[in-house]
Amino acid sequence: MGAPKKLFIKTYGCQMNVYDSERMAEAMGGAGYVATDTADDADMILLNTCHIREKAAEKVYSELGRMKGLKQANPDLKIGVAGCVAQAEGEEILRRQPMVDLVVGPQSYHRLPEMEQQTRAGGRALDTDFPEEDKFEHLKGRGQAKRGPTAFLTVQEGCDKFCAFCVVPYTRGAEVSRPSERVLSEARALVERGVREVTLLGQNVNAYHGGDGGLAGLIRGLAKIDGLERIRYTTSHPNDMDDALIAAHGEEPKLMPYLHLPVQSGSDRVLKAMNRKHTAESYIRLIERIRAARPDILISGDFIVGFPGETEADFDDTMALVRAVEYGQCYSFKYSTRPGTPAAERAQIDAAQADDRLQRLQALLRDQQRAVQDRMVGREVNVLFEKTGREPGQMIGKSDHLHSVFVSADVAVGDLARVRITDSAPNSLAGALI
Ligand code: SAH
Ligand code: SF4
Ligand code: F3S
Repeated sequence: MGAPKKLFIKTYGCQMNVYDSERMAEAMGGAGYVATDTADDADMILLNTCHIREKAAEKVYSELGRMKGLKQANPDLKIGVAGCVAQAEGEEILRRQPMVDLVVGPQSYHRLPEMEQQTRAGGRALDTDFPEEDKFEHLKGRGQAKRGPTAFLTVQEGCDKFCAFCVVPYTRGAEVSRPSERVLSEARALVERGVREVTLLGQNVNAYHGGDGGLAGLIRGLAKIDGLERIRYTTSHPNDMDDALIAAHGEEPKLMPYLHLPVQSGSDRVLKAMNRKHTAESYIRLIERIRAARPDILISGDFIVGFPGETEADFDDTMALVRAVEYGQCYSFKYSTRPGTPAAERAQIDAAQADDRLQRLQALLRDQQRAVQDRMVGREVNVLFEKTGREPGQMIGKSDHLHSVFVSADVAVGDLARVRITDSAPNSLAGALI
């Protein structure tokens, strides 16, 4: 056998793409590839793409444009497009970009080695099916190499909610849950390799139904694994936050006090037009119940401003909801028209007005985030150290509430330690070992 070929994967979008990229690299490992972290010396480049907003999709085409030179320098280089743009655009990518050799949708990654063979034989390969078989069962087992202390673990994929603005139900397909025993065995394998924290992933992760008791049941099963210290999950939909999951937040010490629970808008009129199937009031009541179970939980969310038909009064309702909830972390976006979604057909609102609203919302969210973070000063927290900092002797880790914490101390990556928070900076905390 010759020298191993080199694979460069560039990942866009959500954590699920990060997880998928890892699994693709492992699958291609079995086909004689090793990972490289630069495109320049690669024999194969895969762009794992995101289609959620217009800008994300455009990035893919400009990145492909930049790769023309690499392909001219190395005619044996194979270029592939994976992920949600691949699913949404499919054959169109092959038409627009003659140098693309393969296009693979998110549910077909297990076919990647076979598709690579096809391109080596001089063809071009396209697979954007939603096959009956579960890709994870056909992907090679996870590697044996030692790894960092945290890992993502996909447990659910796809979405049946059809929010009027969103491409995910089209790019990722219907909701599917992985059987709990397979999730548990993958988690055990990760722990054996050094992982101490897992984040369970799903587009709609709290709709998980791969075993008894839904997501709460899975979390309770995972909590029994010795050596697994922390469990997180993302992303959740308010309508799937059941009593068992709320109770788990109060009862299961390994389940971290952090919850990403997007609401998108604080206006009932807009929520209805978005097809969210909940109200601002029901969301606020839900947050109250969750906080009753776990008072110190940090709430995170997503907002869209400038949705078709949003008025200034609707936007005021969003600002009021934000004030009522007090977010510790939040993502907010200007509405982006996505072809094929119901909202794309509606009259769009003025872009300058949407920009202005986004700035006002982001200023409020920034203040809240900072206030929540500042309140940590003086408190004792648990920190799982993930990497070394820039300054000598400095280590960076995450608190239970997912704040980045900088500590100068003699600790190693993977250590979990008690830290007293001494200072709060715009996006991080500083502390000292206790
Ligand atoms: N499944 C998750 C989120 C998926 S997408 C959920 O339901 O919460 C992540 C975020 O991107 C969404 O929460 C939404 O805030 C944002 N988003 C999705 N489609 C968008 C669009 N067309 N324009 C702007 N933001 C969008
Ligand atoms: Fe998109 Fe709505 Fe599904 Fe989230 S719940 S992935 S926003 S359709
Ligand atoms: Fe983007 Fe697809 Fe994730 S559209 S946000 S990569 S599910």
